[in-house]
Amino acid sequence: MDVKPIIAPSLLSADFGNLKKDIQMLNRSKADWIHLDIMDGVFVPNISFGIPVVKAVRALSKKPLDTHLMIVQPERYIHAFKEAGADMLTVHWEACTHLHRTIYQIKEEGMLAGVALNPHTPVAGLEDVINDLDMVLIMSVNPGFGGQKFIPRALDKIKALREMIDRNGSEALIEVDGGVCRDNIAAIVNAGADALVAGSAVFKAENPQEEISILKNI
Ligand code: DX5
Ligand code: ZN
Repeated sequence: MDVKPIIAPSLLSADFGNLKKDIQMLNRSKADWIHLDIMDGVFVPNISFGIPVVKAVRALSKKPLDTHLMIVQPERYIHAFKEAGADMLTVHWEACTHLHRTIYQIKEEGMLAGVALNPHTPVAGLEDVINDLDMVLIMSVNPGFGGQKFIPRALDKIKALREMIDRNGSEALIEVDGGVCRDNIAAIVNAGADALVAGSAVFKAENPQEEISILKNI
């Protein structure tokens, strides 16, 4: 591949008893961003971590914090995540009644604005905001847990989104999240993805730092 994908390891699969060690490893690694999964136990059937942890990660790393909000009413927390140090804030399409307004609230705080689509949500629902977005996150598993299997249909969605972005002259990046590993990364990038989230593929590897380089260079 001529253009290397952006690699965003997800801390969800890191060792929460020793986060500092894992963040220092990411600092030394070829990771481009750190992906932070915020879950509220309502939008998704799991609770992960919140704003104080984002703040702690910010203090330990200079890499951009790619913050994925799997929460209801995300508009209530935009300012708090900015204050905590998020660089990119991605909200779920399914969680936003006034998505256009929420996107601009994120931008007004000086962050990049992303929208995530669950596996059942069609790409076509983004047509009217695609030029307002910095990023679209295609979920390739049902959000809530790390370590799930990649849903192959996501590849068709990435292609359809690439076509929509190019046709509209949008500059939105395509990020893919869930079940990404060294075996499917080439297909995902060939379908049109720019950025890849990897949780268990990185942190369950024997050598996580080396695994990040492998993912970056496939
Ligand atoms: C799932 C999260 C993902 C998760 C990915 O709800 O959004 O970011 O950490 O984990 P893996 O790479 O293990 O599927
Ligand atoms: Zn995520």
